[in-house]
Amino acid sequence: MRLRAPTRFAGPLGVPGDKSISHRVVLFSAIAAGTTTIANLNRGADVQASLNAVRVLGARVDQDGVLVRVTGVARLRDPAQPIDCANSGTTMRVLAGALAGRVNAVLDGDASLRARPMERVAEPLRAMGADVRCSERGTAPIVFTPSQKQLRGITYELPIASAQVKTAVLLAGLRAKGATAVISPSHSRDHSELMLSAMGAAVDVDGLRTTVRPAQLHALDGYAVPGDVSAAAYFIAAATALPGSRISVLATGINPTRSAALDVMRDMGAHISIRNLSVQHGEPVADIEVSSASPLRNVELDPARVANVIDEIPLLCALAATANGSFTVRDAAELRTKESDRIRSTIELLRAFGVSVNELPDGIAVRGGRPLRPPLAISTGGDHRIGLTAAVLAAAARAPLVIEDADCIATSFPDFERAWHAAFAKEPASA
Ligand code: S3P
Repeated sequence: MRLRAPTRFAGPLGVPGDKSISHRVVLFSAIAAGTTTIANLNRGADVQASLNAVRVLGARVDQDGVLVRVTGVARLRDPAQPIDCANSGTTMRVLAGALAGRVNAVLDGDASLRARPMERVAEPLRAMGADVRCSERGTAPIVFTPSQKQLRGITYELPIASAQVKTAVLLAGLRAKGATAVISPSHSRDHSELMLSAMGAAVDVDGLRTTVRPAQLHALDGYAVPGDVSAAAYFIAAATALPGSRISVLATGINPTRSAALDVMRDMGAHISIRNLSVQHGEPVADIEVSSASPLRNVELDPARVANVIDEIPLLCALAATANGSFTVRDAAELRTKESDRIRSTIELLRAFGVSVNELPDGIAVRGGRPLRPPLAISTGGDHRIGLTAAVLAAAARAPLVIEDADCIATSFPDFERAWHAAFAKEPASA
């Protein structure tokens, strides 16, 4: 991917549908009674993996122009082949909760997904009585065998604040005997709780404890996926860093369990404001207006907020490199189990731009405020968020950039190159 050098960012723009929400609406609709019509579904490869999975499990998927219709099935079908979750951890972990105890199936994925921890989702499902087995290394392929008995509700204390594992346990809980509760060490994204409630499940949230009771889900009468705030964040950071920029990212999800990175940027001095707020099926959606800001200053990142900025940590480190002072991320060892070891890959990316940065066992320390030295080309190592963060670093340095192995960007943001260039202002800022 060849990115040109921007002068500044301008104008209204849209981002793809939220990836987390897109997975959920596809996977939940597949087990709900009736047909859910979905607008603005994320078209990236990850969500495609969820659509393919529900299709082979017997749900009906129809594409009708910009709309996708998913019709649920009462009894999931045993797939003849392993289900390929490709690069998508959310497909694999969330689907595990829907499959546990009721089908003969195998979940598999690409080399990156096969290296990621899956025992964390198999363990609570086994505690509910399901037969779920990972490889000896605790990874995919995951093998599911139906249970004779109904699953039993449990109270499960998550060792890490994973929204994917929380969702899997709650989904299995919909078919279990009695109540199922998940206790999280800190708040993680709550899209599942909101959507399951909208689909008719009794979901009770009490602080860090979420409880579900057995329920049959019902299709939603039309669901519009909000724009992905994690995708918007790259434009917001670039517009913040490039003088003279002014953008508005339209109809974007600003759920507080996802938008904490915007709060961190605001604390750094970014000019970000919210317009046209509405709530759709429980999810807050708004236009996000941004104008450039300088100087930025680095702030402390509260470790309790890490789960709510987890996907934006590479980006926050990049913005921190352009700001005065230093920025330290701690308590984020989870980053080592993402699409890449994101502590390593973020550090390598920042160093490629001449940034002074230290690796910590559970985080990253960035020394900001020195001029960036942009390379001609970088490698993503197969991680979309590293490629997207590289685009922001190059923009902040007003440099062109070649992104090698850029295909992975399409897992979350198909058509990124066109969208990025479309946001470049056609003429320089008037004085
Ligand atoms: C996601 C949860 C997070 C996040 C991932 C998407 C989700 O992962 O990093 O990109 O949609 O639930 P964990 O559940 O592993 O924290």
